Amino acid sequence: MTNDFARHVAEGLSRTPKTLSSMYFYDTKGSQLFQQIMALPEYYPTRAEYGVFAAQGAALVAALSPPEATGPFSLVELGAGDGLKTKLLIKELLATGQDFSYVPVDISPSAIDGLRDSLKQEFPPLRVEPLVADYGAALAALATRSGRKAVLFLGSNIGNFDPAGRGAFLAQLAAPLAPADRLLVGFDLRKDPRRIRAAYDDAQGVTAAFNLNLLARLNRELGADFDLTHWQHYPEYDPTTGAMRSFLVSTRAQTVRIAALAQTFDFAAWETIHTENSLKFSPPQITQLAAEAGLRVAGFFTDADGDFADVVLGL
Ligand code: AVJ
Repeated sequence: MTNDFARHVAEGLSRTPKTLSSMYFYDTKGSQLFQQIMALPEYYPTRAEYGVFAAQGAALVAALSPPEATGPFSLVELGAGDGLKTKLLIKELLATGQDFSYVPVDISPSAIDGLRDSLKQEFPPLRVEPLVADYGAALAALATRSGRKAVLFLGSNIGNFDPAGRGAFLAQLAAPLAPADRLLVGFDLRKDPRRIRAAYDDAQGVTAAFNLNLLARLNRELGADFDLTHWQHYPEYDPTTGAMRSFLVSTRAQTVRIAALAQTFDFAAWETIHTENSLKFSPPQITQLAAEAGLRVAGFFTDADGDFADVVLGL
């Protein structure tokens, strides 16, 4: 993993414009900061999606188990994090006597440890098979897993992909699905651009700390010497395309050495590193994305304010 990380950093910082992947936000510190982000007044997506699950859990569970589905199944979740929303679903599944194993997958070992412990506390009889893996490894595990599957990809994690990567990813998710399998994908919807922008530029500066932690992680794990006082968090929303993008901006000309790469990188004053996409979607766009991946929409659930959509997809 560290080698993948080093390779990725060398490649991303050699590009023009420079880029680093948001998948590397989630070390222990980054996972903690993301927990704080989810509780921020400006960061609406988590509360909105929680609202969908709280109000429509029974309908979601019904949509995940089509009439032809019988016997045990796997509830697989990519990027499970703290599992807060999924626990509502698990409660409903257990209450309706369904026979299933929960397979939470996350790139953060600390997140998976915390989730495993809390599930044991809250749902002692639940079968849990946690997996620390990135999406690539998760897709491989999914493809070889036998039996019926309901796959969760919540939180608008799908917004992290650029449009090209997103299509390929959805197609890979669709590939191992059988007719009784279902996919539940959370999409953050387009809305007042000022609200979207504020969600990624909170007043307390937690999102800034989350973005800057990527450079701190390079310092910790790769022996880099980024001086965080000369970098700033800069989020930007384009309401025409729905692209919410985050950058780190070098506030002066500087050279950074990365010991693990035995390499230095020059940054001009105000040069950027693109660190994250958090794309926003319209309902017709979601139907179209599904169709392009060979999937049809079997259920479309939104919160009362229409901020967030949880969409059930199937063959
Ligand atoms: C967990 C990827 C859905 O993009 O909204 C929150 C991460 N980044 N604030 C998002 C995030 C900045 C989040 N996702």
